[in-house]
Amino acid sequence: MRVKTGITNLDRILGGGLPEGYCYLLLGGPGAGKTTFGVQYILNGITESDETGIYVTLDEPPFSIVNNARENFGWDMISQETRHKLALVDASPMDIDAPAGTYRIKGALGTEDFSIDSVLGLVSTAKRRLIPTARRCVIDSVSGLLFQYEKPFIQRQQLLKLIKGLTEMRLTTILLGELPEESIDNQRFGPEAYLAQGVFVMHNIRSKNVMTEVFQIKKLRGQKFPKKMMPYSIGKSGVEIYPEEKVFV
Ligand SMILES: Nc1ncnc2c1ncn2[C@@H]1O[C@H](COP(=O)(O)OP(=O)(O)OP(=O)(O)O)[C@@H](O)[C@H]1O
Ligand SMILES: [Mg+2]
Repeated sequence: MRVKTGITNLDRILGGGLPEGYCYLLLGGPGAGKTTFGVQYILNGITESDETGIYVTLDEPPFSIVNNARENFGWDMISQETRHKLALVDASPMDIDAPAGTYRIKGALGTEDFSIDSVLGLVSTAKRRLIPTARRCVIDSVSGLLFQYEKPFIQRQQLLKLIKGLTEMRLTTILLGELPEESIDNQRFGPEAYLAQGVFVMHNIRSKNVMTEVFQIKKLRGQKFPKKMMPYSIGKSGVEIYPEEKVFV
């Protein structure tokens, strides 16, 4: 079975969507569109495929995600929460009142409890109590979680635990992650890129004094995929990818 990303051109080149039940990684620099992609994936699942989802936010407070989605793209996250199609799980550090209807599990960041285990606990609780049918999940983002583990071995072990836990819950998950702005040719990837089933990158590359947005499928285990750089943009309907167009640099 395939799980559609909701980004039409991407689903087409993936052969119908993402193979079900795995964890994928979407990397990008600040403002690349990671959150937009994540929200789009969850909401499209509900409206297009009747697949429910869990959105876990660690970095940005939920009111900001909900407001941006509504104001920038006209996407209504709250009504999907009310219908029990979406669980918005707040693990963000800011203790600000969540929007009406938001399922708030007390933010764990900045506390001793900020760990992979606590995030897995939040997802499991949301699935059990709110949306037992949930098939999709987004973790926005994993970078902060990973920074706390200084030893690469421990970081890798914790990441494996997260992926194992999400897979056991039968969630097709997109982990969002930060990508340091470096040269596209010698990009350094963290262990998350090696452990995920597939890796997608939203690059922002400079050509003279213009920044160009470029989408790349870096890795996808078990299937062939286009290796070329594809322009993408963020517009009124969210992230769009243009596989047939050339990247001008
Ligand atoms: N309707 C729109 N049309 C074009 N661009 C938009 C629109 N709405 C939002 N944007 C832009 O989309 C960008 C992506 O925002 P988003 O929050 O998805 O990025 P992000 O990668 O999650 O960023 P962060 O690193 O802060 O988490 C923002 O820079 C914003 O300016
Ligand atoms: Mg974001």
